[in-house]
Amino acid sequence: MAQASFDFSGTTTVITGGASGIGLTCAELVARCGGNVIVSSSRRPDKTEKALQRIKAAAAGKAIRTDAFACEVGTEDSVASFFKQVGQAGHRIDYVIHSAPSSTPGLIKSST
Ligand SMILES: NC(=O)c1ccc[n+]([C@@H]2O[C@H](COP(=O)([O-])OP(=O)(O)OC[C@H]3O[C@@H](n4cnc5c(N)ncnc54)[C@H](OP(=O)(O)O)[C@@H]3O)[C@@H](O)[C@H]2O)c1
Repeated sequence: MAQASFDFSGTTTVITGGASGIGLTCAELVARCGGNVIVSSSRRPDKTEKALQRIKAAAAGKAIRTDAFACEVGTEDSVASFFKQVGQAGHRIDYVIHSAPSSTPGLIKSST
């Protein structure tokens, strides 16, 4: 099957939920295209570390930056703190992919 190729070099993509699942797949694709990737970390440090290793491996030798910071997407203060830490670490943000599950338990009628 043909694969589209994009050049993300020099850009930084922030991915919530990037330590596993769909977010990690997106992170690997961005890294394969040469882009820096920042993910929100898993609650399990070993899972975050493995994800960062997979992202670096996907870059296949391209010089990219990867990083992970804690973020609870259901809490405004945590999201603000996450993006503050991204900035403080010297990352410019070009793209954001929001993939962390963000629904909070409750009745459907109260969220519509
Ligand atoms: N997978 C599917 O079949 C499917 C289908 C339809 C829609 N979706 C949607 O697609 C998105 C990604 O799904 P996925 O299956 O790839 O997700 P996932 O693997 O269940 O979770 C991805 C990451 O998000 C983190 N996470 C979970 N809750 C979080 C929270 N409140 N704040 C910050 N991070 C949080 C998880 O952290 P931990 O490692 O600590 O758990 C995990 O590292 C979700 O919004 C989901 O609802 C998925």
